[in-house]
Amino acid sequence: MIDTVAKELTGAPGAPAAAGPAVPAAVTSRQAPPRIGDHQLRNRVVLAPMAGITDLPFRSLCWRLGAGMVVAEMVSADPKLRQTRKSRLRRVHARESGPRSVQIAGADPQLMADAARYNRDEGAEIIDINMGCPAKKVCQRAAGSALLRDEELVARILEAVVAAVDVPVTLKIRTGWSPDERNGVAVARIAEASGIAALAVHGRTRADRFNGAAEFATVAAIVATVGIPVLANGDIDSPERAAAVLAETSAAGVMVGRAAQGRPWLCGQIAAWVEHGVRLPDPDPASQLRLLAEHVEALHDFHGVERGLRIARKHVGWYLQASGMAEDQQRRFARDFNRIEAGAAQLASLAELHRIREGLPAELGNSIQRDAAWSRSATQAA
Ligand SMILES: Cc1cc2nc3c(=O)[nH]c(=O)nc-3n(C[C@H](O)[C@H](O)[C@H](O)COP(=O)(O)O)c2cc1C
Repeated sequence: MIDTVAKELTGAPGAPAAAGPAVPAAVTSRQAPPRIGDHQLRNRVVLAPMAGITDLPFRSLCWRLGAGMVVAEMVSADPKLRQTRKSRLRRVHARESGPRSVQIAGADPQLMADAARYNRDEGAEIIDINMGCPAKKVCQRAAGSALLRDEELVARILEAVVAAVDVPVTLKIRTGWSPDERNGVAVARIAEASGIAALAVHGRTRADRFNGAAEFATVAAIVATVGIPVLANGDIDSPERAAAVLAETSAAGVMVGRAAQGRPWLCGQIAAWVEHGVRLPDPDPASQLRLLAEHVEALHDFHGVERGLRIARKHVGWYLQASGMAEDQQRRFARDFNRIEAGAAQLASLAELHRIREGLPAELGNSIQRDAAWSRSATQAA
């Protein structure tokens, strides 16, 4: 797997993965990657569900670049919302590799059980329950992390969903409702008793939203309390940070969210480090361009060009931030890119991005664009 990922990242067949510095204790004393029901994960690094971001194109890229598992965007348990365009697209798992984990959100045990069955029938291999999202849209209906306050309701939802499906059910929580009501350990006990197969814990309370730094003492306490696999989540943005969090919490794995935006290769880099002590470099600029062009094209195909090109703008913005380009260059490129209203023109402008980054003359940018197109067709043909 590492060789495949290294090749993807550098674009060079058989490119060697760089040897890392001294291998940290979290790596050498590593546990095997966790099992979720029948699904043996291939490594301990999972892409977090992020509504509006972890759509099929982004998940597929992160999986191909080495994530141990990827989780789809949440879908509402409300049956009235099942046939909206958004919900239908969020349920597309065809062509998806790896265990298909689908997250459901809601507060009514019966509706959640029905939603689990429905998504199971639509291809979900793991049902994940959202009790971690602080978004108003979710919390106003007392779903997401708002549920953490009502432990009795938590138990009824978990039991109903576990009983409804023959696939593993996982749960994503925060450490509690607020710093004064940090009941993550109690919720984790309820989860284990209800038959939940694995837990992901974001090291913040609902009241913290995304403020302050994630804390992992509560995650460590949860790991020490329950026997099911726990994934530690929050602010993990590098292989070193992931190794430190694994060491601090003894968690079965880590879940990575925002840091993967613009860096679909990050989960694979973290996995190479924590599993094998291998430091995979960032893809070189030409490989980044190739991956970005593939991503943007996949967004056009999946969402339709009109929506796809809008969604591409935010991803390209994140790639720019991760690229190390000077800020004024980023701003100038983003301003022009965000004005483009045609899919083909968006793709063509990515060659210009490479030219700017490399300080190349215009004709070289064009040949790189041709190479990227060639590489895309070659991948599709393979
Ligand atoms: C834009 C965005 C959308 C998110 N959507 C979801 C979601 O649908 N379900 C969920 O459980 N968590 C969601 N989250 C929370 C993330 O899964 C993750 O727990 C959080 O971002 C902390 O991890 P990080 O610091 O690695 O980003 C979302 C976060 C962001 C930033």
